[in-house]
Amino acid sequence: MTAGVAGTGLAAPALVPPLRPGQCQLWWASARDAHPRLRELLDEGGRARADRLRKPAARALHLTAHALARVVTAAQLQLQTSMLRMQAVCKQCGGPHGKPQPPEPLRLSWSHSGERVVVALTLRIDIGVDVERVAPYEQETADRVLAAPERAALATLPEAGRPEGFVRYWTRKEALLKSTGDGLAVSPGLLHVTAPAAAPRLLSWSGPARPSLPLHLYDLDAGPGHLAALATVGAPVRLTRHDGSSLLAAQHASADASGLLTDPIRPTAERSFAS
Ligand SMILES: CC(C)(COP(=O)(O)OP(=O)(O)OC[C@H]1O[C@@H](n2cnc3c(N)ncnc32)[C@H](O)[C@@H]1OP(=O)(O)O)[C@@H](O)C(=O)NCCC(=O)NCCS
Repeated sequence: MTAGVAGTGLAAPALVPPLRPGQCQLWWASARDAHPRLRELLDEGGRARADRLRKPAARALHLTAHALARVVTAAQLQLQTSMLRMQAVCKQCGGPHGKPQPPEPLRLSWSHSGERVVVALTLRIDIGVDVERVAPYEQETADRVLAAPERAALATLPEAGRPEGFVRYWTRKEALLKSTGDGLAVSPGLLHVTAPAAAPRLLSWSGPARPSLPLHLYDLDAGPGHLAALATVGAPVRLTRHDGSSLLAAQHASADASGLLTDPIRPTAERSFAS
């Protein structure tokens, strides 16, 4: 099936399948997808932040993540990207930052690190996603963010495998903390997750922020040199992998033909969002 790219008359593949109940769509892209025109897809706040980022690598990740998040969210809602209003409300201070809040019934999380960008989307199931480039870590950081049994398990790994082990722990914990909206306002050291080689699972969460609903944890394939994890609140999900790079490239193609970069790729099926 194909869908017309609105405003261009071009045929584009239907790149944004409708979300199904219990599904989590994972859209992967790269900092290399950061065409300067992606800035036009961001909202005012996103553009202002992009303009403040002086380091090209940080700016590329920001542009790619925000553009991809807005394109897939708008497509699910059958909206033009420019019409999409997304908020964030900080769980700590109530300020306009923190976990992104797309319109109902969608839930959204994104992460970027190194070269990778990932955007995760569900219907009604809160999620948190984290991707990290594997890199050496400071022992002081490990002492601060790992629980005692995690530090002990990391110490049993061969030295060459410890950066990957540490990052595996980190992505699992950050995904969990993002799924509840706490982020790093809650110390990752209060969470205890399974050892890097074991199936991902939250074993315990100490302190007052402990959520009442069960959390589900998944390791994701982030490609060479990167690790990633996803956490969901209250229900497991079926993961599907999607090509965010092609989606963003189709946006450029649409812009090249029309001079505009404001229309989303039209989904082909009606969105019913049944529960
Ligand atoms: C966001 C955070 C979890 C770490 O992220 P990171 O590894 O640097 O970056 P990632 O790429 O994985 O994720 C960033 C995205 O997470 C999301 N995010 C931010 N805060 C979040 C939260 N509390 N819960 C869930 N998601 C959050 C945003 O979409 C953010 O994207 P943006 O920076 O482009 O706006 C961490 O920086 C954090 O928790 N910061 C806020 C700490 C806080 O709450 N302080 C109190 C403020 S009053």
